[in-house]
Amino acid sequence: MTIAKEKARVAGGPQHGLTADAYRSEDIWQRECQTVLSKNWVFIGFAHQIANPGDANPVSCAGLPLLTVRGQDGSIQVFHNVCLHRCMTLVDKPKNVGKLIRCPYHAWAYDLEGRLRAAPHFAGTGKQEFDGFDLKEHRLKPVRTHVWHDWIFVNLDGNAPEFEDYAGSLINRLEGIDYGKLEPIGLLDFGEIDTNWKLIMENFIEPYHVQFVHSSTTDQPLEDHYTITDGNCLGSAVDLKEEVGTSGSLAVSSRYLTLYPNFILGRYFPDQLGVYLNVPVGPGKMRQYRALYTTEGQKLSEEEIQGLKDLWWDVHKEDHEMVERMYEGRKSPVADDGGLLSPAWEDSVRAFQDMIERDLASDGTSPGTGMAAGAPANA
Ligand SMILES: [Fe+2]
Repeated sequence: MTIAKEKARVAGGPQHGLTADAYRSEDIWQRECQTVLSKNWVFIGFAHQIANPGDANPVSCAGLPLLTVRGQDGSIQVFHNVCLHRCMTLVDKPKNVGKLIRCPYHAWAYDLEGRLRAAPHFAGTGKQEFDGFDLKEHRLKPVRTHVWHDWIFVNLDGNAPEFEDYAGSLINRLEGIDYGKLEPIGLLDFGEIDTNWKLIMENFIEPYHVQFVHSSTTDQPLEDHYTITDGNCLGSAVDLKEEVGTSGSLAVSSRYLTLYPNFILGRYFPDQLGVYLNVPVGPGKMRQYRALYTTEGQKLSEEEIQGLKDLWWDVHKEDHEMVERMYEGRKSPVADDGGLLSPAWEDSVRAFQDMIERDLASDGTSPGTGMAAGAPANA
């Protein structure tokens, strides 16, 4: 076992969570980048953010600078956002680059398919090429990419299963959605959050906190919830016996689903979706966005859209306070053995943590590395 202590797995009692270093250690963050965030399909951006040919959006995955680009033919490609010449990052903010991605340093230029088109004066004044250097042999380094509806995923190591297989359990749970009618109606940017990204995921897939943390923004009794652990899809769901509630609060049957490791989709019956983009930045830093969608082609007024944005802003802010304080609490020795997990409501959290442990162990690092201080290697 790489992180949690074996003694935590006592049959019949509550399980412990991951030890504090799984969230706070720079070493484990680096291992996570090499494993969890490289070998799986990681969500990096929304296709609607690069709607037109030439639109380019710099993003981050596993700490690496990547660039999502809409090509002339409308397809999306993802490249390492790094010039082949002096390894500058090419694009530093979302923009339309026209037909060429041009490095600001020495004006090396690449077309939207990543082919090197210009390296001005590289071989001397007015000359680009020389023996051993042919523009045609150089192109931006692509990343394995899959675009699923509005959602752009990458698999950095190139070895993950085909996306449809990887995400099959999530896709099956979304039956009935007419993706042809899926329409983004708003994007919330929460900026940086001072927490570990895994705490955001764990928070989302347990229904236990909803009644306490979101008492003013939601109206979904705990007793109507259940957890979901289904392959790479973890989460929870609530089937309300009757759909009531006051306007401005969430009071509908819902599905809170994730695709391991970082994709979050909320489905709110009968006709809305929300998708969170969670960007791990470091052990104690992440960024978060939320896109709001309608799924039945309904036309909402500006006031209705603003009301939804306000509701979701408040719900997320309530969660952010909790996950920042959980990160802070993990400075304490109290967190060394990972706290306690409810067998009724947090089995989904434990399943997520099991997957993290499995992936961290896959880098071949000795099992003792990353354990809590004082924990014997084979406890
Ligand atoms: Fe929450």
